[in-house]
Order: sequence, then structure tokens, then C-alpha cells
Amino acid sequence: MNISSSHHSTLLYDATDLQRWRESLSSHDHRPLIGFVPTMGDLHEGHLSLVREAKRHAQYVVVSLFVNPTQFNNASDFEAYHRDESRDAQVAVNAGADAIFLPSPGVIYPSGAQTWVNVGALGDHLCGATRPGHFRGVCTVVNALFNLVRCHIAVFGEKDYQQLSIIRQMTRDLHLPVKIIGVPTARESGGLAMSSRNTRLTPAGRREAMSIYKSLTNAQRLWREGEREHSSLVEEVKRELSPLLKIDYLTLCDPHSLQPLADEQQTHTALLAIACFVEEVRLIDNLMLGSS
Ligand code: PAJ
Repeated sequence: MNISSSHHSTLLYDATDLQRWRESLSSHDHRPLIGFVPTMGDLHEGHLSLVREAKRHAQYVVVSLFVNPTQFNNASDFEAYHRDESRDAQVAVNAGADAIFLPSPGVIYPSGAQTWVNVGALGDHLCGATRPGHFRGVCTVVNALFNLVRCHIAVFGEKDYQQLSIIRQMTRDLHLPVKIIGVPTARESGGLAMSSRNTRLTPAGRREAMSIYKSLTNAQRLWREGEREHSSLVEEVKRELSPLLKIDYLTLCDPHSLQPLADEQQTHTALLAIACFVEEVRLIDNLMLGSS
């Protein structure tokens, strides 16, 4: 009930605000296409590339800023998540957002809420194996956000490849009337995948973290040269990684099922996915082998 406009943006806090905002559009346009970029804020260039992509497909773009408590595995990680909503709203608008959705937890999870969107086999591997309940939290919040925003199109990053796969699956399984669009990973100049967590690294940690992309692209080169023994590709990546990184997982997997590939399984493309800790900061990245 509190629509405020600043810098040509519209700040929306709940379902009523969203409803009014949509009605204000319909008076200009019969059925405007609404694009949506869900985020947890602390926006960087990777997020903004999603906003720009959404703008290419839709007349109006909503960006949500919501640090979703149900997808965190521990409370201190949730508490430590960096929040600066006025700065985020401004940069999102500069990138083309027409409205910013800033729900409180009570808007997303009505008091007494007890219904979850559970994830099937796609959630068993990679991050799903080491972060129990994470994707259940992601799917539940994304489903709620889709229903609140009533978007036609939603944009997600390939950096979170498993998340993107799971959201596509959920959208199909639940017949959600939303088209899902994936966007390639935005990287810093040294190749490090952009992440809100990168700012928690010291300069030395950042140098260690650069070995992630270097080792993945090295595996891509070996794949192009014909190396198909999966275990030796993974060993090569390990050799190139800084020894100061703690590997959470490093897996070559089927890009559709996300099941780890056995050595004898031959595929045209394979997803090389990694999660590791650098100075206690958990970073993820992935590269598709065989796609170019
Ligand atoms: P968050 O980590 O804020 O990411 C929001 C979106 O930005 C996701 O689709 C993510 O894949 C994308 N993104 C992050 N870094 C990127 C990069 N370097 N290049 C391209 N895209 C990038 O992912 C979440 O929030 C949450 O799980 C959410 C979907 C909002 C549900 O709470």
C-alpha cells in the first residue's frame, strides 16, 4: 500500500502495490509483457546484464531484492549477507528496471506458511548434495515471486547453472506461465565469475580465486584437443587450482540430468562444475565443455 516513485522508479512492497502498478500499465498498453529478474540484492554487473537482457524481451522489467532466509544453510551466512536497498534500486533502474520489488519476509511467507516446492533428482547433485534444503528454499521463493509479480518472462544467470536447470524444471512441472531465459556468466577481467561474495576476498584470496577460471578453461582446451577421459580432465583441473582452495565439489556431469559422468560415458557436451572455499568464502563456477 505504499507505492513511492523516485528517480523514475517505482518501489513496490507487497501484492497490492504490484497489482496497482500492473493496473497503471494496462491503461497505456493492453497486455504489456512483464520481465522479471529475481535477486538477493548487492547487485553487480552480472545482475545488471540480466536486467538488460530482460529489457530486450519485455516492455517492463521488475527486479526483486529479497534475501531469502529459507535458502541459507546457516543463520550467520544469512545475517552477513550485504544489504543496501537504496543503492541496489538505483543501479537496477539505471540498467533499465521499471519497478523494484522489496518484499519483507512476511509478504513472501504469510504467517503460518507451511507449503514448500520440493525438488526432484536435479537437486541431488552438486550444490544440492552439500547444501541440504537450499534448492527447496530457492524454488519456494521463486514460485512465490512469480505468482506475486505475474511476470511473463524471467531471467536467470548460467553462473548458477543448477539453479537455472531446477527453475526450468519447476516451471515445466508446475505449468507456470513464465518463459525462462538464461544469461552467460559475467566475469571480472581475470576471468573470476562475478559474485556478491567476491568483495569478501582479500587481494591475495582474489588471486587464488582466479585459478578457478584458469583451470576450467584449461580443461576446455584439453577437451577440444580430444581428451575424453573424464577422470583425467578432473585431475588436470585439480592440478591447476591453487592448493589454498578447499574443494567442495568438482564434477564433470551430464548438462541435462546433472548426474556425474562415468569415464566410459561419451557425450558431445559436458558440464564442468566446481564449488570451493577461498578464505572461508564459498565460490561456484562452471563451464560447458564441447559447446563451442
Ligand atoms: P543472487 O545470487 O542475487 O543472483 C540473482 C541472479 O543473478 C541469479 O539468476 C544468478 O544466477 C545471477 N548471477 C549472479 N552472478 C552472476 C554472474 N556473474 N553472471 C551472470 N549472472 C549472475 O540466485 C539468487 O540470487 C537467488 O537464489 C534467487 C534466484 C534470487 C532466489 O532467492
